[in-house]
Amino acid sequence: MTDVPDGSGLLTRRASFRVAHAAEQSLEQQVFILDVQAKRPAVRTLKSWALDQLAPAAGETAVDVGSGTGEDVVAFARRGARAIGVEPSPALRAEAVRRAADAEVEYVEGHAEALPFEDESVDVLRSERVLQHVDDPAAVVREMARVLRPGGRIVLIDTDWATAIVHPADPDVLARMVDHFLAESANPYSGRRLRGLLAGAGLEIVDETAATMIEPQEGARQGFVGMMVQTSLQAGVITQVEAESFAGALADAADRGGFHLSLTMYAVSAVKPRAASGS
Ligand SMILES: C[S@@+](CC[C@H](N)C(=O)[O-])C[C@H]1O[C@@H](n2cnc3c(N)ncnc32)[C@H](O)[C@@H]1O
Repeated sequence: MTDVPDGSGLLTRRASFRVAHAAEQSLEQQVFILDVQAKRPAVRTLKSWALDQLAPAAGETAVDVGSGTGEDVVAFARRGARAIGVEPSPALRAEAVRRAADAEVEYVEGHAEALPFEDESVDVLRSERVLQHVDDPAAVVREMARVLRPGGRIVLIDTDWATAIVHPADPDVLARMVDHFLAESANPYSGRRLRGLLAGAGLEIVDETAATMIEPQEGARQGFVGMMVQTSLQAGVITQVEAESFAGALADAADRGGFHLSLTMYAVSAVKPRAASGS
């Protein structure tokens, strides 16, 4: 009999970042998942690309919406900007303050749907892997455009869960697991929508890029795979036998070096147009 990742490790539990699920979440669980993700080369690549695009400067106000553990707010501060993280979770804000050490940063309570800033008061704004958790991403991006100054820069980064590839997997079992996961997510195809959302909010697209996250072989026995198997089992969309067979096939493949799980994230940068002069 094959072991199914049993949920006892932090990596096998689902960490939801939807505000509606906040009460079910432990800080330890969320921080663990964020730290694992933050080490992935694809995430490093996109964070670095975003910082280059945004180029925050001394004297500017730079905001990260959904700032999590605060790494990107600290990066803004290191460039000399007034650096502010907007984060609804009090526990994540406290963790971000603890991690910021001597960096001059501010963390404020708030939601992307109603940012705590005056119109046209922000020079630089970023938001990473947040829009997938909101119910009305178009309204959120309009809200971001509201607070940006004319000439202000913005970068959005997000996953598109349709790009997830898992191999080897029984197609029928995988389809039921994926369907369940997508139905539980607020905005699972966020990645492909970023460009249109920015353009729809009246912002001019500057550049776009993508990076694919590839799980290491040990990911066959933990991480995203374990999380999907456990939540699908608990929801009753797969049976115990199917869960064992699914997990066993991936673990066997990993033992031979043949496991594959990948997921693509997208990033788009834009600018708020300045009003036409002389009109
Ligand atoms: C996957 S985490 C990403 C954190 C961080 N941006 C990073 O790159 O590590 C999603 C973050 O969005 C926050 N979040 C969820 N819904 C939000 C909302 N409606 N407004 C602002 N932040 C939100 C969560 O609390 C969490 O910190």
